[in-house]
Amino acid sequence: MAGESFLSFPENFIWGAATSAYQIEGAWNEDGKGMSIWDVFSREPGKTINGETGDTAADHYHRWEEDVELMAQLKLNTYRFSVSWPRILPSGTGVINPAGLDFYDRLVDGLLARGIQPAPTLFHWDLPLPLHEKGGWPSRETAHYFAEYAQVLARRLGDRVKLWITHNEPFVTAFAGYLMGNHAPGLNDPLAAGRAIHTLLLSHGYAVEALRANTPAGTQVGITLNLAPVHPATGSEEDRLAAWRYDGASNRLFLDPILRGCYPEDVAAVLSAMMPEILPGDMETISTPLDFLGANYYSRAVVRHDPAFPFIEASPLQPEGNEYSQMWEIYPPGIYELLKRLWEDYQVKNIIVTENGVPVPDGIDFDGRVRDQRRVRYLRDHLAQVHRALSEGIPVGGYMVWSLLDNFEWALGYQMRFGLIHVDFQTLRRTIKDSGRWYAQVIQENGLHLTGSNPYLPC
Ligand code: GCO
Repeated sequence: MAGESFLSFPENFIWGAATSAYQIEGAWNEDGKGMSIWDVFSREPGKTINGETGDTAADHYHRWEEDVELMAQLKLNTYRFSVSWPRILPSGTGVINPAGLDFYDRLVDGLLARGIQPAPTLFHWDLPLPLHEKGGWPSRETAHYFAEYAQVLARRLGDRVKLWITHNEPFVTAFAGYLMGNHAPGLNDPLAAGRAIHTLLLSHGYAVEALRANTPAGTQVGITLNLAPVHPATGSEEDRLAAWRYDGASNRLFLDPILRGCYPEDVAAVLSAMMPEILPGDMETISTPLDFLGANYYSRAVVRHDPAFPFIEASPLQPEGNEYSQMWEIYPPGIYELLKRLWEDYQVKNIIVTENGVPVPDGIDFDGRVRDQRRVRYLRDHLAQVHRALSEGIPVGGYMVWSLLDNFEWALGYQMRFGLIHVDFQTLRRTIKDSGRWYAQVIQENGLHLTGSNPYLPC
């Protein structure tokens, strides 16, 4: 088509969509599942909008076969989901719940039967309540429980699952859960947050070892981090230094231990009061070599020097002039900048974008379509930046949209819709949105039309 440009992607590129157990499964107390800290936290008054919980969510636990069929309609070749630890080990350790393992066993087989690669995340924030009561992530013992859990899953699913993610966003687990308190378990305790950071990283290393010991050679193991380029609000020296400190606390605090085997000195100094004792061997365990790094990208951070901000004296602000979604600035070049940094600064050999998506209000029109044009435009513009990175030789192995389904957005409840598939939370009816139809064509063609040729592409 005249004037059309088409960006083709590599053969064997991973095209996926992502979810997490607590956000979509429901069945919070069924078939032997134990309580998680989110089952408790979402019931605490004022912790989630309208007191909404994941009790039912999108009812994926009962509707997973329909959802796998919808994934096939979207032409996904990979599906990233998370396993509910308390569904597998209701106490977090010890006795296994057979029904829990059976659920994921059926899901894996259902995906494989449709030619969709399962990509489980072991931990996406729903810590078993009994482990929290034993100390939770601030306690080193939890790292060993996590390795035990990883071993249980590897021994049951390792013959069929070829791509594993240990943690989703340990930054959020530690800071939102133990410092800011807006996520479960809802604490405001810097020491607990610092200990949680180290135990989460240690648990990642132990889990990698457990997965490698219980899966066939060639199995791909990695971790997913939420990462964002950090830009100074102005060119001033104090804002530039503030941006570096913010980058340290949000990006390098996790990238350096995992990929370099050491905490960044500037960050360790600033957070020294929070950091726990590091035992001999810890950093070697944490930096166990990985097959890929998962990167969740949503937007950039713009930061100014702010002496009132604790520890890092740097606070984010919302720059004017760009488009915004319901949660953050829309900044497509940021995904390119992130991918470029991971390659140039850390020589990551395989980067998988494990989440990228946008919360925009959408609903079903009279003719039954969901015309989520803003989401199509967001995904197109970010994929174009991913292609820009690929064209420069940056090793991007795949891209996963957050999310497959509209789901429970943590403290924001069901107010934010990220899905390629609309969910009516009264009837639980699924409707593939225009963005889902658009994405299916991108996958089928293994490429991106920047203009025309795709009926769901905005003009
Ligand atoms: C995250 C989590 C998801 C969120 C999504 C939208 O990246 O925060 O992995 O659970 O729902 O990112 O905020």
